[in-house]
Amino acid sequence: MLRTAGGGAMLAAGLVGLTACVDSPELPNRAPPGWADELALRRPLDRNPDPHILEIDLRATPATLALWDLTPATPVYTFDGGIPGPLLELAVGDRLIVHFTNDLPEPTTIHWHGLRIPADMDGVPDHSQPAVLPGERFDYDFVVPDAGLFWYHPHVNSSAQVASGLYGPMLVRPVDASEDLAPDDEVVLVLSDIAIDDDGALVDPQSGGDLGTLFGREGNVVLVNGRWLPTMSVRSGVTLRWRVVNAARTRYFQLALPGTKFTRIGNDGGLLASPVEEDLLLLTPGQRADVLVTPDAAAGSLQFLTWVPYDRGFGSTEFRQEELVMRLDFSTDAPGQPSTPSFARALSPISITDATAVSLRLTQMKDPDGHVVLGVNNVPFSELAPLPAQIGETQVWTIENEMDWAHPFHLHGFFFQVLNDDGTPEQPLAWHDTVDIPVHGSRKIAVRFDERPGMWMFHCHILDHADAGMMGMIDLVP
Ligand code: C2O
Ligand code: CU
Repeated sequence: MLRTAGGGAMLAAGLVGLTACVDSPELPNRAPPGWADELALRRPLDRNPDPHILEIDLRATPATLALWDLTPATPVYTFDGGIPGPLLELAVGDRLIVHFTNDLPEPTTIHWHGLRIPADMDGVPDHSQPAVLPGERFDYDFVVPDAGLFWYHPHVNSSAQVASGLYGPMLVRPVDASEDLAPDDEVVLVLSDIAIDDDGALVDPQSGGDLGTLFGREGNVVLVNGRWLPTMSVRSGVTLRWRVVNAARTRYFQLALPGTKFTRIGNDGGLLASPVEEDLLLLTPGQRADVLVTPDAAAGSLQFLTWVPYDRGFGSTEFRQEELVMRLDFSTDAPGQPSTPSFARALSPISITDATAVSLRLTQMKDPDGHVVLGVNNVPFSELAPLPAQIGETQVWTIENEMDWAHPFHLHGFFFQVLNDDGTPEQPLAWHDTVDIPVHGSRKIAVRFDERPGMWMFHCHILDHADAGMMGMIDLVP
Protein backbone atom coordinates (compact mmCIF):
# COMPACT_ATOMS: atom_id res chain seq x y z
CA MET A 1 0.00 0.00 0.00
CA LEU A 2 1.04 3.54 -0.69
CA ARG A 3 1.19 4.50 2.94
CA THR A 4 3.57 1.68 3.81
CA ALA A 5 5.83 2.43 0.87
CA GLY A 6 5.90 6.13 1.79
CA GLY A 7 6.69 5.38 5.41
CA GLY A 8 9.47 3.03 4.40
CA ALA A 9 11.01 5.62 2.10
CA MET A 10 10.92 8.24 4.84
CA LEU A 11 12.48 5.83 7.26
CA ALA A 12 15.26 4.97 4.81
CA ALA A 13 15.90 8.65 4.08
CA GLY A 14 16.09 9.42 7.79
CA LEU A 15 18.67 6.72 8.33
CA VAL A 16 21.18 7.73 5.67
CA GLY A 17 24.62 7.68 7.26
CA LEU A 18 23.50 5.95 10.49
CA THR A 19 25.44 2.71 10.28
CA ALA A 20 24.27 1.53 13.70
CA CYS A 21 20.75 1.22 12.36
CA VAL A 22 21.70 -0.28 9.05
CA ASP A 23 19.32 -3.22 9.56
CA SER A 24 16.26 -1.12 10.33
CA PRO A 25 15.09 -0.38 6.79
CA GLU A 26 14.66 -4.15 6.34
CA LEU A 27 12.29 -4.38 9.30
CA PRO A 28 8.72 -3.94 8.14
CA ASN A 29 6.95 -1.01 9.77
CA ARG A 30 4.81 -3.35 11.82
CA ALA A 31 4.13 -4.32 15.40
CA PRO A 32 6.20 -7.25 16.74
CA PRO A 33 5.10 -10.74 15.56
CA GLY A 34 2.38 -12.09 17.87
CA TRP A 35 1.88 -8.62 19.31
CA ALA A 36 -1.82 -9.12 20.07
CA ASP A 37 -1.84 -12.84 20.93
CA GLU A 38 -3.06 -12.23 24.49
CA LEU A 39 -5.99 -10.34 23.05
CA ALA A 40 -7.02 -13.02 20.58
CA LEU A 41 -10.77 -13.41 20.13
CA ARG A 42 -12.43 -16.68 19.25
CA ARG A 43 -13.89 -17.08 15.76
CA PRO A 44 -17.02 -19.08 15.06
CA LEU A 45 -17.09 -22.05 12.72
CA ASP A 46 -18.64 -21.00 9.40
CA ARG A 47 -20.95 -23.79 8.19
CA ASN A 48 -21.64 -22.14 4.87
CA PRO A 49 -19.26 -22.45 1.87
CA ASP A 50 -20.58 -19.22 0.31
CA PRO A 51 -17.95 -16.55 1.04
CA HIS A 52 -20.72 -13.96 1.42
CA ILE A 53 -22.63 -15.91 4.06
CA LEU A 54 -21.47 -16.42 7.62
CA GLU A 55 -23.62 -19.21 9.03
CA ILE A 56 -22.92 -20.21 12.59
CA ASP A 57 -24.28 -21.92 15.66
CA LEU A 58 -24.28 -19.79 18.77
CA ARG A 59 -25.21 -20.95 22.22
CA ALA A 60 -25.89 -18.95 25.35
CA THR A 61 -24.60 -21.26 28.04
CA PRO A 62 -23.38 -21.20 31.65
CA ALA A 63 -19.66 -21.83 32.22
CA THR A 64 -17.10 -21.43 34.98
CA LEU A 65 -14.17 -19.24 33.96
CA ALA A 66 -10.99 -18.09 35.68
CA LEU A 67 -11.24 -14.35 35.08
CA TRP A 68 -9.13 -12.94 37.86
CA ASP A 69 -5.89 -14.14 39.43
CA LEU A 70 -7.04 -13.18 42.92
CA THR A 71 -10.16 -15.33 43.16
CA PRO A 72 -11.30 -18.84 42.30
CA ALA A 73 -13.06 -19.38 38.97
CA THR A 74 -16.43 -17.67 38.50
CA PRO A 75 -19.71 -19.20 37.31
CA VAL A 76 -20.83 -16.94 34.45
CA TYR A 77 -23.01 -16.86 31.37
CA THR A 78 -21.25 -17.07 28.01
CA PHE A 79 -21.75 -17.22 24.30
CA ASP A 80 -20.17 -20.53 23.28
CA GLY A 81 -18.25 -21.00 26.51
CA GLY A 82 -16.14 -17.83 26.66
CA ILE A 83 -16.18 -14.10 27.44
CA PRO A 84 -16.59 -12.21 25.23
CA GLY A 85 -18.56 -14.13 22.61
CA PRO A 86 -16.81 -14.94 19.33
CA LEU A 87 -15.83 -12.17 16.91
CA LEU A 88 -18.15 -12.24 13.91
CA GLU A 89 -16.40 -10.75 10.91
CA LEU A 90 -18.20 -9.94 7.69
CA ALA A 91 -18.15 -7.50 4.78
CA VAL A 92 -20.90 -5.02 3.93
CA GLY A 93 -23.68 -6.86 2.08
CA ASP A 94 -22.84 -10.26 3.55
CA ARG A 95 -25.55 -12.35 5.13
CA LEU A 96 -25.32 -13.54 8.72
CA ILE A 97 -27.25 -16.63 9.79
CA VAL A 98 -27.10 -17.47 13.47
CA HIS A 99 -28.68 -20.68 14.73
CA PHE A 100 -29.09 -19.60 18.31
CA THR A 101 -29.73 -21.97 21.21
CA ASN A 102 -30.58 -20.88 24.72
CA ASP A 103 -28.96 -23.19 27.26
CA LEU A 104 -29.46 -20.74 30.11
CA PRO A 105 -31.91 -21.41 32.93
CA GLU A 106 -33.82 -18.24 31.92
CA PRO A 107 -35.26 -16.65 28.75
CA THR A 108 -33.02 -14.52 26.54
CA THR A 109 -32.61 -13.01 23.06
CA ILE A 110 -29.80 -11.49 21.00
CA HIS A 111 -29.88 -7.81 20.07
CA TRP A 112 -27.47 -6.72 17.31
CA HIS A 113 -26.40 -3.34 18.65
CA GLY A 114 -26.06 -0.65 15.96
CA LEU A 115 -27.11 -2.75 12.99
CA ARG A 116 -29.71 -1.33 10.62
CA ILE A 117 -31.57 -4.60 10.12
CA PRO A 118 -35.29 -5.44 9.96
CA ALA A 119 -37.25 -4.97 13.20
CA ASP A 120 -38.03 -8.68 13.51
CA MET A 121 -34.28 -9.43 13.76
CA ASP A 122 -33.61 -6.80 16.44
CA GLY A 123 -33.93 -9.10 19.43
CA VAL A 124 -36.36 -7.09 21.56
CA PRO A 125 -38.67 -9.56 23.34
CA ASP A 126 -42.41 -9.26 22.58
CA HIS A 127 -41.74 -6.74 19.81
CA SER A 128 -39.14 -8.31 17.48
CA GLN A 129 -39.70 -11.89 18.60
CA PRO A 130 -40.85 -13.89 21.60
CA ALA A 131 -38.09 -14.38 24.16
CA VAL A 132 -36.17 -17.61 23.54
CA LEU A 133 -37.07 -19.90 26.45
CA PRO A 134 -34.58 -22.25 28.13
CA GLY A 135 -33.73 -25.10 25.77
CA GLU A 136 -35.30 -23.36 22.77
CA ARG A 137 -33.80 -22.05 19.56
CA PHE A 138 -34.17 -19.04 17.29
CA ASP A 139 -32.64 -18.31 13.89
CA TYR A 140 -31.34 -14.82 13.19
CA ASP A 141 -30.87 -14.14 9.49
CA PHE A 142 -30.07 -10.76 7.98
CA VAL A 143 -27.74 -8.83 5.68
CA VAL A 144 -25.22 -6.47 7.32
CA PRO A 145 -25.62 -3.02 5.74
CA ASP A 146 -22.85 -0.85 7.18
CA ALA A 147 -19.11 -0.99 7.83
CA GLY A 148 -17.98 -0.57 11.40
CA LEU A 149 -17.60 -2.27 14.72
CA PHE A 150 -20.86 -3.49 16.25
CA TRP A 151 -21.72 -5.84 19.08
CA TYR A 152 -24.34 -8.23 20.30
CA HIS A 153 -25.92 -8.83 23.69
CA PRO A 154 -29.18 -10.11 25.19
CA HIS A 155 -32.27 -7.93 25.56
CA VAL A 156 -34.01 -9.84 28.34
CA ASN A 157 -33.06 -9.00 31.91
CA SER A 158 -30.18 -7.33 30.14
CA SER A 159 -28.42 -5.71 33.05
CA ALA A 160 -27.94 -9.01 34.85
CA GLN A 161 -27.28 -11.03 31.68
CA VAL A 162 -24.65 -8.61 30.35
CA ALA A 163 -23.13 -8.42 33.84
CA SER A 164 -22.92 -12.22 33.76
CA GLY A 165 -20.82 -12.21 30.58
CA LEU A 166 -23.16 -12.18 27.57
CA TYR A 167 -21.69 -9.85 24.94
CA GLY A 168 -19.60 -10.21 21.81
CA PRO A 169 -18.14 -8.11 18.96
CA MET A 170 -19.00 -7.94 15.26
CA LEU A 171 -16.69 -6.31 12.72
CA VAL A 172 -18.10 -5.34 9.34
CA ARG A 173 -15.54 -4.36 6.73
CA PRO A 174 -16.12 -2.13 3.72
CA VAL A 175 -16.47 -4.05 0.45
CA ASP A 176 -13.82 -1.97 -1.20
CA ALA A 177 -10.69 -2.47 0.88
CA SER A 178 -9.10 0.59 -0.73
CA GLU A 179 -11.52 2.70 1.33
CA ASP A 180 -9.61 1.47 4.31
CA LEU A 181 -6.30 3.28 4.66
CA ALA A 182 -5.73 2.28 8.25
CA PRO A 183 -2.54 0.56 9.38
CA ASP A 184 -2.27 -3.18 8.95
CA ASP A 185 -1.81 -3.75 12.66
CA GLU A 186 -5.37 -3.81 13.89
CA VAL A 187 -7.03 -5.29 16.96
CA VAL A 188 -10.59 -5.44 18.29
CA LEU A 189 -10.77 -4.55 22.00
CA VAL A 190 -13.91 -5.46 23.91
CA LEU A 191 -13.89 -3.46 27.14
CA SER A 192 -16.06 -4.61 30.00
CA ASP A 193 -16.04 -5.22 33.72
CA ILE A 194 -17.38 -7.89 36.01
CA ALA A 195 -18.28 -7.86 39.71
CA ILE A 196 -16.64 -10.79 41.49
CA ASP A 197 -16.60 -11.34 45.25
CA ASP A 198 -13.80 -12.91 47.32
CA ASP A 199 -14.91 -16.49 46.78
CA GLY A 200 -15.12 -16.02 43.02
CA ALA A 201 -18.91 -15.77 42.81
CA LEU A 202 -20.64 -13.11 40.75
CA VAL A 203 -21.91 -10.30 42.94
CA ASP A 204 -25.72 -10.21 43.12
CA PRO A 205 -26.86 -8.34 40.00
CA GLN A 206 -29.24 -6.27 42.16
CA SER A 207 -26.60 -5.35 44.77
CA GLY A 208 -26.95 -2.00 46.48
CA GLY A 209 -30.71 -1.75 46.02
CA ASP A 210 -32.05 1.63 44.88
CA LEU A 211 -28.69 3.33 45.17
CA GLY A 212 -27.15 0.59 43.04
CA THR A 213 -29.85 1.21 40.45
CA LEU A 214 -29.38 5.00 40.46
CA PHE A 215 -25.60 4.90 40.21
CA GLY A 216 -25.54 1.82 38.01
CA ARG A 217 -23.48 -1.20 38.99
CA GLU A 218 -19.82 -1.23 37.99
CA GLY A 219 -17.69 -4.35 38.21
CA ASN A 220 -14.51 -4.49 40.32
CA VAL A 221 -12.53 -6.33 37.64
CA VAL A 222 -11.87 -4.58 34.32
CA LEU A 223 -11.59 -6.92 31.35
CA VAL A 224 -10.17 -6.47 27.87
CA ASN A 225 -11.33 -9.24 25.56
CA GLY A 226 -12.32 -11.15 28.67
CA ARG A 227 -8.87 -10.96 30.25
CA TRP A 228 -7.79 -9.01 33.27
CA LEU A 229 -4.80 -6.73 32.55
CA PRO A 230 -3.60 -8.43 29.35
CA THR A 231 -0.33 -7.50 27.66
CA MET A 232 0.01 -6.06 24.17
CA SER A 233 3.49 -6.15 22.59
CA VAL A 234 4.18 -2.92 20.78
CA ARG A 235 7.02 -1.30 18.89
CA SER A 236 7.60 2.34 19.58
CA GLY A 237 6.58 4.52 16.64
CA VAL A 238 4.46 1.90 14.89
CA THR A 239 0.85 3.01 14.54
CA LEU A 240 -1.87 0.60 15.61
CA ARG A 241 -5.56 0.64 14.86
CA TRP A 242 -7.72 -0.15 17.86
CA ARG A 243 -11.37 -0.99 17.24
CA VAL A 244 -12.90 -0.53 20.68
CA VAL A 245 -16.35 -1.30 22.10
CA ASN A 246 -17.58 -0.60 25.61
CA ALA A 247 -19.70 -3.62 26.53
CA ALA A 248 -19.92 -2.85 30.27
CA ARG A 249 -23.38 -2.64 31.84
CA THR A 250 -22.66 0.73 33.49
CA ARG A 251 -18.97 1.72 33.48
CA TYR A 252 -17.83 4.56 31.26
CA PHE A 253 -14.34 3.93 29.90
CA GLN A 254 -12.12 7.01 29.78
CA LEU A 255 -8.66 5.80 28.77
CA ALA A 256 -5.21 7.36 28.93
CA LEU A 257 -1.86 6.27 27.56
CA PRO A 258 1.06 8.35 28.91
CA GLY A 259 2.48 10.78 26.36
CA THR A 260 0.26 9.48 23.56
CA LYS A 261 -2.75 10.94 21.82
CA PHE A 262 -5.59 9.03 20.29
CA THR A 263 -6.57 9.83 16.72
CA ARG A 264 -10.24 8.96 16.53
CA ILE A 265 -11.16 8.07 12.97
CA GLY A 266 -14.51 6.43 13.59
CA ASN A 267 -17.19 5.68 16.14
CA ASP A 268 -20.53 3.86 16.29
CA GLY A 269 -21.52 4.19 12.65
CA GLY A 270 -18.15 3.82 10.91
CA LEU A 271 -15.63 6.47 9.90
CA LEU A 272 -15.99 10.13 10.85
CA ALA A 273 -15.96 12.84 8.18
CA SER A 274 -12.49 13.72 9.45
CA PRO A 275 -10.26 12.50 12.31
CA VAL A 276 -10.13 14.04 15.77
CA GLU A 277 -7.11 14.09 18.10
CA GLU A 278 -7.89 13.34 21.74
CA ASP A 279 -5.79 13.11 24.91
CA LEU A 280 -8.29 10.79 26.53
CA LEU A 281 -10.46 8.24 24.80
CA LEU A 282 -14.02 8.18 26.15
CA LEU A 283 -16.61 5.50 25.47
CA THR A 284 -19.95 5.35 27.26
CA PRO A 285 -21.56 1.94 27.57
CA GLY A 286 -22.63 0.82 24.09
CA GLN A 287 -20.32 3.15 22.16
CA ARG A 288 -17.51 2.20 19.80
CA ALA A 289 -14.32 4.01 18.83
CA ASP A 290 -12.00 3.41 15.90
CA VAL A 291 -8.65 4.96 16.84
CA LEU A 292 -5.08 5.18 15.63
CA VAL A 293 -2.58 4.90 18.46
CA THR A 294 1.18 5.23 18.14
CA PRO A 295 2.76 4.02 21.40
CA ASP A 296 5.95 5.89 22.10
CA ALA A 297 8.46 4.89 24.77
CA ALA A 298 12.01 3.57 25.12
CA ALA A 299 12.76 0.17 23.62
CA GLY A 300 12.29 -2.56 26.21
CA SER A 301 10.19 -0.41 28.57
CA LEU A 302 6.60 -0.84 29.59
CA GLN A 303 3.53 1.36 29.94
CA PHE A 304 -0.02 0.96 31.12
CA LEU A 305 -3.24 1.94 29.46
CA THR A 306 -5.25 3.32 32.36
CA TRP A 307 -8.90 3.91 33.18
CA VAL A 308 -9.37 7.49 34.37
CA PRO A 309 -12.47 8.37 36.44
CA TYR A 310 -15.01 10.26 34.35
CA ASP A 311 -17.58 12.53 35.93
CA ARG A 312 -20.89 10.94 34.99
CA GLY A 313 -22.61 12.15 38.14
CA PHE A 314 -22.65 11.89 41.89
CA GLY A 315 -20.13 9.36 43.22
CA SER A 316 -18.41 8.68 39.90
CA THR A 317 -15.13 10.49 40.63
CA GLU A 318 -15.06 10.99 44.41
CA PHE A 319 -12.52 8.63 45.99
CA ARG A 320 -12.02 6.83 42.68
CA GLN A 321 -8.52 5.92 41.58
CA GLU A 322 -7.15 5.30 38.14
CA GLU A 323 -7.23 1.61 37.25
CA LEU A 324 -4.90 -0.42 35.06
CA VAL A 325 -6.54 -1.74 31.90
CA MET A 326 -3.78 -3.13 29.69
CA ARG A 327 -0.02 -3.48 29.79
CA LEU A 328 2.08 -2.40 26.79
CA ASP A 329 5.46 -4.10 26.47
CA PHE A 330 7.80 -2.23 24.13
CA SER A 331 10.00 -4.39 21.93
CA THR A 332 13.72 -3.75 21.59
CA ASP A 333 13.36 -2.99 17.87
CA ALA A 334 14.38 0.40 16.53
CA PRO A 335 11.41 2.78 16.45
CA GLY A 336 9.05 2.48 13.52
CA GLN A 337 7.55 5.25 11.48
CA PRO A 338 4.13 6.56 12.56
CA SER A 339 1.55 6.19 9.85
CA THR A 340 -0.73 9.17 9.35
CA PRO A 341 -3.24 8.28 6.67
CA SER A 342 -5.56 11.19 6.03
CA PHE A 343 -9.05 9.87 6.50
CA ALA A 344 -11.98 11.67 5.06
CA ARG A 345 -15.46 10.32 4.52
CA ALA A 346 -18.08 12.15 2.54
CA LEU A 347 -20.98 12.60 4.96
CA SER A 348 -23.82 15.08 4.57
CA PRO A 349 -25.83 16.62 7.36
CA ILE A 350 -29.36 15.28 7.76
CA SER A 351 -31.73 17.92 6.41
CA ILE A 352 -33.91 19.06 9.30
CA THR A 353 -35.97 21.73 7.53
CA ASP A 354 -39.18 19.65 7.69
CA ALA A 355 -38.25 17.67 10.78
CA THR A 356 -40.75 16.85 13.50
CA ALA A 357 -39.65 18.07 16.93
CA VAL A 358 -39.84 15.51 19.72
CA SER A 359 -38.89 16.15 23.32
CA LEU A 360 -37.94 13.53 25.79
CA ARG A 361 -37.06 13.95 29.41
CA LEU A 362 -35.12 11.27 31.24
CA THR A 363 -36.70 11.19 34.65
CA GLN A 364 -36.65 9.61 38.07
CA MET A 365 -39.79 8.67 39.97
CA LYS A 366 -40.86 6.55 42.92
CA ASP A 367 -43.24 3.63 42.96
CA PRO A 368 -46.00 3.41 45.63
CA ASP A 369 -43.55 1.63 47.96
CA GLY A 370 -41.04 4.43 47.64
CA HIS A 371 -38.63 2.50 45.41
CA VAL A 372 -36.74 4.09 42.54
CA VAL A 373 -38.36 3.89 39.12
CA LEU A 374 -36.83 5.53 36.07
CA GLY A 375 -38.61 6.55 32.94
CA VAL A 376 -39.14 8.86 30.01
CA ASN A 377 -41.33 11.98 30.54
CA ASN A 378 -42.11 10.64 34.03
CA VAL A 379 -43.54 7.39 32.68
CA PRO A 380 -41.79 4.04 33.18
CA PHE A 381 -41.33 1.73 30.18
CA SER A 382 -44.17 -0.58 31.24
CA GLU A 383 -46.71 2.26 30.88
CA LEU A 384 -45.17 4.34 28.11
CA ALA A 385 -47.12 4.67 24.85
CA PRO A 386 -44.93 4.17 21.76
CA LEU A 387 -43.80 7.34 19.98
CA PRO A 388 -45.19 7.56 16.46
CA ALA A 389 -42.93 7.86 13.42
CA GLN A 390 -43.48 7.52 9.70
CA ILE A 391 -41.22 5.99 7.12
CA GLY A 392 -39.28 8.78 5.45
CA GLU A 393 -39.86 11.16 8.35
CA THR A 394 -37.01 13.08 9.93
CA GLN A 395 -37.26 13.86 13.62
CA VAL A 396 -35.18 16.08 15.85
CA TRP A 397 -35.19 14.87 19.41
CA THR A 398 -34.30 17.09 22.30
CA ILE A 399 -33.34 14.79 25.13
CA GLU A 400 -33.16 16.36 28.56
CA ASN A 401 -31.61 14.72 31.56
CA GLU A 402 -33.33 15.63 34.81
CA MET A 403 -31.20 13.32 36.94
CA ASP A 404 -27.97 13.55 38.92
CA TRP A 405 -26.40 10.90 36.68
CA ALA A 406 -25.55 10.99 32.98
CA HIS A 407 -27.35 8.69 30.56
CA PRO A 408 -25.83 7.13 27.43
CA PHE A 409 -28.91 7.30 25.22
CA HIS A 410 -29.20 4.53 22.62
CA LEU A 411 -31.55 4.21 19.66
CA HIS A 412 -32.00 0.81 18.03
CA GLY A 413 -31.89 0.26 14.29
CA PHE A 414 -31.06 3.78 13.05
CA PHE A 415 -28.03 6.01 13.10
CA PHE A 416 -28.45 9.61 14.11
CA GLN A 417 -26.41 12.79 13.97
CA VAL A 418 -25.80 14.86 17.07
CA LEU A 419 -26.78 18.53 16.75
CA ASN A 420 -25.46 21.56 18.58
CA ASP A 421 -27.98 23.54 20.63
CA ASP A 422 -28.54 25.89 17.67
CA GLY A 423 -29.50 22.96 15.44
CA THR A 424 -26.32 22.84 13.36
CA PRO A 425 -24.71 19.41 13.12
CA GLU A 426 -21.85 18.65 15.46
CA GLN A 427 -18.49 18.52 13.65
CA PRO A 428 -16.92 16.40 12.38
CA LEU A 429 -20.04 14.80 10.93
CA ALA A 430 -20.55 11.29 12.24
CA TRP A 431 -23.15 8.58 12.65
CA HIS A 432 -24.02 7.56 16.18
CA ASP A 433 -26.30 5.09 17.86
CA THR A 434 -25.45 6.09 21.44
CA VAL A 435 -24.90 9.61 22.79
CA ASP A 436 -24.16 10.79 26.30
CA ILE A 437 -26.77 13.08 27.88
CA PRO A 438 -24.89 14.89 30.64
CA VAL A 439 -26.12 15.44 34.19
CA HIS A 440 -28.95 18.05 34.14
CA GLY A 441 -28.02 18.78 30.53
CA SER A 442 -29.54 18.07 27.16
CA ARG A 443 -28.58 16.96 23.64
CA LYS A 444 -30.31 17.18 20.31
CA ILE A 445 -30.19 14.43 17.72
CA ALA A 446 -31.51 14.18 14.17
CA VAL A 447 -32.74 10.87 12.82
CA ARG A 448 -34.33 9.90 9.55
CA PHE A 449 -36.54 6.81 9.67
CA ASP A 450 -35.93 4.67 6.60
CA GLU A 451 -38.05 1.89 5.09
CA ARG A 452 -37.98 -0.56 7.98
CA PRO A 453 -41.37 -0.45 9.68
CA GLY A 454 -41.93 -1.97 13.09
CA MET A 455 -41.38 -1.39 16.75
CA TRP A 456 -37.98 0.08 17.58
CA MET A 457 -36.56 0.60 21.01
CA PHE A 458 -34.62 3.42 22.63
CA HIS A 459 -33.16 3.40 26.12
CA CYS A 460 -30.37 4.37 28.44
CA HIS A 461 -27.41 2.03 27.95
CA ILE A 462 -26.62 2.04 31.63
CA LEU A 463 -28.48 -1.23 31.72
CA ASP A 464 -29.47 -0.79 35.36
CA HIS A 465 -31.28 2.38 34.29
CA ALA A 466 -32.90 0.65 31.32
CA ASP A 467 -34.15 -2.22 33.49
CA ALA A 468 -35.49 0.30 36.03
CA GLY A 469 -37.77 1.71 33.32
CA MET A 470 -35.71 4.13 31.20
CA MET A 471 -36.71 2.61 27.87
CA GLY A 472 -39.29 3.36 25.22
CA MET A 473 -40.54 2.25 21.81
CA ILE A 474 -41.06 3.90 18.47
CA ASP A 475 -43.87 2.65 16.28
CA LEU A 476 -42.60 3.19 12.74
CA VAL A 477 -45.39 2.92 10.21
CA PRO A 478 -45.68 3.42 6.41
CU1 C2O B 1 -27.06 -2.33 23.11
CU2 C2O B 1 -31.08 -2.03 23.45
O1 C2O B 1 -29.05 -2.10 23.26
CU1 CU C 1 -29.13 6.11 32.39
